[in-house]
Amino acid sequence: MPDLFAALPDAVSVYEVSPRDGLQNEPGIVPLEGKKRIIRALAAAGLKRIEATSFVSPKWVPQLADAGDLLAQLPPPDGVTFSALVPNEKGLERARESTLPEIAVFLSSSETHNRLNTNKSVDASLDLFAGIVPQAREMGIRVRAYVSTVWGCPYEGPIAIDKSVGIARRLVEMGCYQVALSDTIGVGTPKQTKEIVQAALGELAVEQIALHLHDTRGTALANVLVGLELGVRNFDASIGGLGGCPYAPGASGNLATEDLVFLLEGMGLQTGIDLDKLIEAGAIAEQVVGRILPGKVHQAGAFRLRKAP
Ligand code: HMG
Ligand code: MG
Repeated sequence: MPDLFAALPDAVSVYEVSPRDGLQNEPGIVPLEGKKRIIRALAAAGLKRIEATSFVSPKWVPQLADAGDLLAQLPPPDGVTFSALVPNEKGLERARESTLPEIAVFLSSSETHNRLNTNKSVDASLDLFAGIVPQAREMGIRVRAYVSTVWGCPYEGPIAIDKSVGIARRLVEMGCYQVALSDTIGVGTPKQTKEIVQAALGELAVEQIALHLHDTRGTALANVLVGLELGVRNFDASIGGLGGCPYAPGASGNLATEDLVFLLEGMGLQTGIDLDKLIEAGAIAEQVVGRILPGKVHQAGAFRLRKAP
């Protein structure tokens, strides 16, 4: 019988999106102090790459309108890189003013979702990024990218894999160092993930591929395992399972960081993250947003021996 886990990497990089993907989707606006508490706790747990906020239009996403103030008040702890979403030139200018070392551009492979999320066609987004990605690079800013709705769109259904992979290749050609293939509404299943990652590996190097999985239907970890098997070493996650896209109905929580780290460390893959401190960060996030978060490990805790009654 073939060894299911023969090809696993030794170490995995976790990219934390809760301060952006999580807080953009909260019904209320989380106060700046609460955002700072969450980010400090994430860094204390060992997360080195944190998407701290978003330089999108405050009219579209008022929850993150304080992006400039947040970054001005919160210098990144040693060894931690902050990033933020940038949708256009104005966003890039705001990121430069905040001296961010890294940004993330984003578009969808579904025309309908891209229009609802960014008011542009897919081609118009690609043309825009062909301008701003090299500009950012000249400013010394690294650029990551997202391709949304790769596993399916709430308005268009299944999306051709070739289309998503073609967009990812173009983003890398423009100068993005990594593309997060995104299951925006959490509909992906493992066989589909294998097809998508294999197709992406035909066009991109493995370190240029990340998986950004929403756990809406409980399939995110199964999809992570398929990614690991194919050599993927970059995964996005969000503390407690916070998250969702305000322009994709039904896009509830991201894969919870605690669930991802529990799985990875339990399988002997290094993340550099302390699970106990991560669970503390989840408790802080829950306190800040004022509702019970859905993450499984967040709710169950780490694996500990108990005294028998
Ligand atoms: P638009 O209305 O077409 O833009 O929005 P515009 O250029 O016509 O500008 C309209 C107004 O917005 C102007 O102000 C601009 O100055 C202002 P006014 O003159 O009316 O006072 N504006 C800005 N202000 C601050 N910063 C900016 C900016 N840009 C324009 N950067 C736009 C187009 C792309 C800006 C808008 O659609 C937008 O901000 N969309 C972002 C929506 C969003 O953030 N969605 C969630 C993130 S994506 C996601 O969650 C998916 C992901 O997690 C992966 C996955 O799971 O799939 C990444
Ligand atoms: Mg997302």
